[in-house]
Amino acid sequence: MSDCSKEAQGFFITLEGIEGAGKSTAVPVLAETARQLGYEVEVTREPGGGELGERLRKIFLDPGLMLDADEELLLLYAGRLDHIRKRILPALVAGKVLICDRFEDSTFAYQGGGRHVSLDRIDALSRWAGVKCRPDLTFWLDVSPEVGAYRIGFRDPDRLERESPDFFRRAREVFGQRMNADPGRFCRIDAEAPLEEIRVRLQVELQNRLPGRT
Ligand SMILES: Nc1ncnc2c1ncn2[C@@H]1O[C@H](COP(=O)(O)OP(=O)(O)OP(=O)(O)O)[C@@H](O)[C@H]1O
Ligand SMILES: [Mg+2]
Repeated sequence: MSDCSKEAQGFFITLEGIEGAGKSTAVPVLAETARQLGYEVEVTREPGGGELGERLRKIFLDPGLMLDADEELLLLYAGRLDHIRKRILPALVAGKVLICDRFEDSTFAYQGGGRHVSLDRIDALSRWAGVKCRPDLTFWLDVSPEVGAYRIGFRDPDRLERESPDFFRRAREVFGQRMNADPGRFCRIDAEAPLEEIRVRLQVELQNRLPGRT
């Protein structure tokens, strides 16, 4: 099914972290850096990315809706399968650098850590759905819930942004666990640093990690 198979010659980058970490701010920095190095770049996001996912995103983030963790999980994976089939795999098969603002680590962090669903259960769902698409590189923008909340304090909070600092503390812990379990894939960025410092760090790390570049 959703297999990043041998013919997928591109490079799959994801950005992860809690609300206000600076993921969406980092996306154009990475995209610009990769383009300057001569790569063809495509940008996408989750929840969303495909047509189904973007429609589900509206439902998912609607503060007027009450969803339990399993309902959230099923919505996320429905959107993810469509996203992988219609956007992620085609871009990778075409040899592009694909940059995705959140991906599966966020599901483990939010529905697992945040909502207390067992991580094994999410893993089982991922396997059942046939998700074999693993990022080549994941930037974890790590910020405290307090700093993250302060940064997004000026906008109208969506359904997830209304969660408590403890929810985001648990999510942050799971991002850390996933990095420790797969250190080669992750690059942790201290996202409380000044923006300019983060920009330079992202540029340097990306240059060093893109294939064919040293
Ligand atoms: N290192 C930084 N220092 C100060 N402000 C920052 C930094 N990084 C991002 N910001 C600001 O914080 C706010 C949130 O950033 P951004 O939208 O990129 O976060 P995000 O991780 O995408 O959040 P969300 O998960 O809610 O989508 C923006 O106003 C952005 O300009
Ligand atoms: Mg964002």
